Amino acid sequence: MWDALRAHHAGVKNRRFETLVDQARAADFSVQAGDMLLDYAKTNIDSDGRKLLIDLLDRAGVAAKRDAMFSGAAINETEGRAVLHTALRNLDGAPVMVDGVDVMDGVLQTLSRMARFAADVRGGVFQGQGGAITDVVNIGIGGSDLGPKMAAIALAPYHDGPRCHFVSNVDPADIAQVLRGCDPATTLVIVASKTFTTIETMTNAQTAKAWMGETVSDPAAQFAALSTSGDKTAAFGIDPSRVFGFEDWVGGRYSMWGPIGLSLMIAIGAKAFRAFLRGAQAMDTHFRSAEWSQNMPALLAMVGIWHNQICGHATRAVLPYDNNLARLPAYLQQLEMESNGKGVSMDGADLSVNSGPVVWGEPGTNGQHAFYQLIHQGTRVVPCEFLVAARGHEDDLHHQHQLLVANCLAQSEALMKGRDLAEARSKVADKFEGAELERQARHRVFPGNRPSVTIAYPQLDPFTLGQIVALYEHRVFVEGVVLGINSYDQWGVELGKELATALQPVVEGAQGTDDKDGSTAALVGFLRQNGV
Ligand code: F6P
Repeated sequence: MWDALRAHHAGVKNRRFETLVDQARAADFSVQAGDMLLDYAKTNIDSDGRKLLIDLLDRAGVAAKRDAMFSGAAINETEGRAVLHTALRNLDGAPVMVDGVDVMDGVLQTLSRMARFAADVRGGVFQGQGGAITDVVNIGIGGSDLGPKMAAIALAPYHDGPRCHFVSNVDPADIAQVLRGCDPATTLVIVASKTFTTIETMTNAQTAKAWMGETVSDPAAQFAALSTSGDKTAAFGIDPSRVFGFEDWVGGRYSMWGPIGLSLMIAIGAKAFRAFLRGAQAMDTHFRSAEWSQNMPALLAMVGIWHNQICGHATRAVLPYDNNLARLPAYLQQLEMESNGKGVSMDGADLSVNSGPVVWGEPGTNGQHAFYQLIHQGTRVVPCEFLVAARGHEDDLHHQHQLLVANCLAQSEALMKGRDLAEARSKVADKFEGAELERQARHRVFPGNRPSVTIAYPQLDPFTLGQIVALYEHRVFVEGVVLGINSYDQWGVELGKELATALQPVVEGAQGTDDKDGSTAALVGFLRQNGV
């Protein structure tokens, strides 16, 4: 099924796609979902290529698998689970069946409980032992941290609740720095862990409990838990009234729409949180109903497949020209790389094409003064994904926002057009001549012909953020189906966890290094000599 696309690529790979980009193409190679626009005109995909990519989606059975996911089928086959994060934003409550049972009652009840608790914390009804809650500390890692943290930063202009902090790393520097700024008597600690076994989170949770116990008589009373494991939260001492549960059909990296989003809800309020869910729900509806040529997540996936599996570009840069999306690249690293970084297909056979790309990035314009040099002149092509809002939240500084937008558009234009040798020569002809002019000019050539897409929206409000995150979730789904992999397990994180557990007594000196390889033994030796 890949051959036709490969043959097409071979025929077009040497053309300059800039020559395709007239105004008709801008309309044809862009799509709107609600008030969000995706422009993919600045790529080398033409209508024949798009047809072949749509054909790829059809042959992979994406539509049937999408419908199976939304209907609660156990599409996470290696774990025998449904994949139903979409139920968490199914605010209208249409039935969603898992094993013959409608899960929506439970979902909506939990959402109401979260809203009540958030209102109590925000309104001073739920208090710490020293008074109203001033600080909320979310302790979690991976999907129990990256999503809510990314969203809390993205929606900073909407915060009107207590201060909100995130602790994830087992490195004590992380929790120490956060707790230093909090008063234990007015802090709420939220332990966010689907499994309630993750070593980093449980270690940090115990550290926080001990810290709080030095000041207040009943530290557990200022703890809440977000987990699928009621037994373990009870064993930790957290009252069930402050435990917000969810089901195993919500994957960790897809979980911020439910209880894992509690810290965000406390920061922005239940109404804004619902708007966030509504944005995602709108993207779900679009994904389920729009034909592939007009379907934003499907098109983003097609562009991704074209650049990675067909053109062979191994990485993709996510470049938000929206400083509040500073943590979006980190969030997407987990969403995309933990989902689609797999080497075998559903049936256990080796993949015949590359797995998902390395995703990385930083907000613009900061990145321009750091790694854009490589993006423009390096020997490898890095497809870029720009995100930009028409308006920021600083009305009095709108002219500054316009400068930001100009920079964003300039980068995609520069990547596409580049600068040839003749133009580079003319730029320095007044300073150099002869061989030196030639040499100097060559350093100023930009190859161009480098692809990018741009996602533009009016303003980064809760609804829009919901749209953006759901857009990426569904893009990951489509890419995973086309690759034939299970995007919803993460076996690749297990080996390191097992070895870390085995290494802890070695690092502590309770066990020797005899069964370790030479390099690991030598590193343990060095660190022990230096005080570990
Ligand atoms: O180690 C990977 C992982 O399982 C992620 O998939 C998950 O988001 C993270 O750890 C945290 O897991 P938990 O929420 O169970 O603590």
